[in-house]
Order: sequence, then structure tokens, then C-alpha cells
Amino acid sequence: MTDTVNSIKHVASPLARQTLLDSDLTRPVAGRRPIRLLPWLHVVKIGGRSIMDRGAEAILPVVEELRKLLPEHRMLILTGAGVRARHLYGVGLDLGLPVGSLAPLAASEAGQNGHILASLLAPEGVSYVEHPTIASQLAIHLSAARAVVGSAFPPYHHHEFPTSRIPPHRADTGAFLVADALGAAGLTIVEDVDGVYTADPKGPEGQQAQLLRETSAADLAKVEGSLPFDRALLDVMATARHLEHVQIVNGLAPGRLTAALRGEHVGTIIHTGAAKA
Ligand SMILES: Nc1ncnc2c1ncn2[C@@H]1O[C@H](COP(=O)(O)OP(=O)(O)O)[C@@H](O)[C@H]1O
Ligand SMILES: [Mg+2]
Repeated sequence: MTDTVNSIKHVASPLARQTLLDSDLTRPVAGRRPIRLLPWLHVVKIGGRSIMDRGAEAILPVVEELRKLLPEHRMLILTGAGVRARHLYGVGLDLGLPVGSLAPLAASEAGQNGHILASLLAPEGVSYVEHPTIASQLAIHLSAARAVVGSAFPPYHHHEFPTSRIPPHRADTGAFLVADALGAAGLTIVEDVDGVYTADPKGPEGQQAQLLRETSAADLAKVEGSLPFDRALLDVMATARHLEHVQIVNGLAPGRLTAALRGEHVGTIIHTGAAKA
């Protein structure tokens, strides 16, 4: 009989002989900070409800700012969903659809908004690209054009966590996950308010609401009231690898987006849990 044991090719791997469930064992190999894939990339998330739903009045000035920023920055512009996703959620929830069926429906509106924005920036060489392109061909696209537009929604689809009936991982979470995974220079979230307030500035307690110029994801996680972004964003910010902060800016105030991309503090800066480089 041949000794099959001796003919087996052993592949050396520092993790070969251990469980992946014990972080003390995996840390020496897996504990290092990942490399930054696109350290020059600026990710800009444009709100669906706050900007895109307002139509030309809000969209055209934002497009003009983005257009003028092209010579300065290479950007991944990601769009969120707005009123059409809310209608889809309403119909889908009424029919009893699970959260994983609702997630791609809402994501499709984020994509529609992206197509609208990309059409307006097309004369500058900007196109809409799908998720697989963002995942594996962003570098070549950004060598050919100064920016591309995509959907900010993460592709959880039927893998969405069934913790709530509305998909918890929406555009803000998706934009942050991809920006941090790419090791981007920054993420700017464009809304229709000056930043994060102590309460919804347009809500019943809006008169008393105060703007938080600087805060942290950990502090905001303790706030029970509403926020101008997905609550799941706070969870992914807590475990960030690269992005040390994000800035929320008012896209209806001319010049704020431009200033934010130039590193100025013009909205709310939210610090993540990422260790300083
Ligand atoms: N704590 C808060 N600070 C600022 N805005 C808030 C807060 N809570 C709720 N909002 C509201 O969130 C709105 C933005 O809604 P949102 O659903 O985030 O829009 P978008 O789809 O564009 O991201 C703001 O116009 C504001 O009225
Ligand atoms: Mg928002």
C-alpha cells in the first residue's frame, strides 16, 4: 500500500492549525491595519430625500459644485434613496415582504438617483457604475475620469439582517463601508441641514435643537432621538479601520461641500473608532 500521507502537499499558512474563532490566536496575523487601496479618493454621499427629491433647485447647484471640484479631487459620488423607496417600503410592508426583499427595492431608487446625477455630470466624463465595477475596477475608471457615480446602498439584499422590517443598512452605512474598505481620504455626507443637531431641527422640538459641531459615533450612539443618517452608520464607524471622521454638511448652502472637501470644518464632524495612523 502506498503511504498517501507522505504524498499530501502541505500548504504553509500561519492560520492553518487554529480556529478562526479565537481572536488571541488570529491577532498576530489578522490584527494589522489593512493597506489603503485608494488613499487619494474622496467619497461624497448625496442624500436622496434631502437633495435628490428636491429636484432641479437643489440638484443643479450641487452638480455645479461637484463639477468645479473635479480638477481638485478624484471622487466616488454615491447617492441615497428618498421618497420612492419610502413608497416601496409602504407597499412591500403592507404585503408582508421580508427585509431582504425590501432592501434591493430601496437600493434601486438609490441607483436611479445615481443615474440622474451621472447624466448631469456626463459632459465632464462622469458615468454611473454598478457595484461590481466599484468593487473591482474603480481604479481604472478613476484613471479615465475624475469621478464616478454609484449607489450608496450596500448589496445586502436577501442577506440583510432581520433585526427590523426596514433595511438597517442603508445609504450612509454603505457609503461608509466602501470608503473605509478602500482606505479613502474622506467621506462627506451631504444633507439639507447644517449638521447633526441635539434634536430634529425640523421636528416639534426644532426651536431648541442645537447644532453639534463636533461629536463622536460613540456619543451619538447614546442619543435616543432621530439622526439625519442610518443608525447602523454608528455601528460601522465604531469598528472603522481607516476613516477617523466623517463630515455632515448642508448641500443647500452654496460652498459647504467644496469647503468640506478642502478639509474645512463647515458642518458636523463625527469621529469614528479608528485608531490614529
Ligand atoms: N438629530 C438630527 N439632526 C439633524 N437633522 C435631523 C436630526 N434628526 C432628524 N433629522 C432630519 O433628517 C433630515 C434628513 O433626512 P434623511 O432621511 O437623512 O435624508 P436623506 O435621505 O437625504 O439622507 C433632515 O432634514 C432633518 O430634518
Ligand atoms: Mg440622511
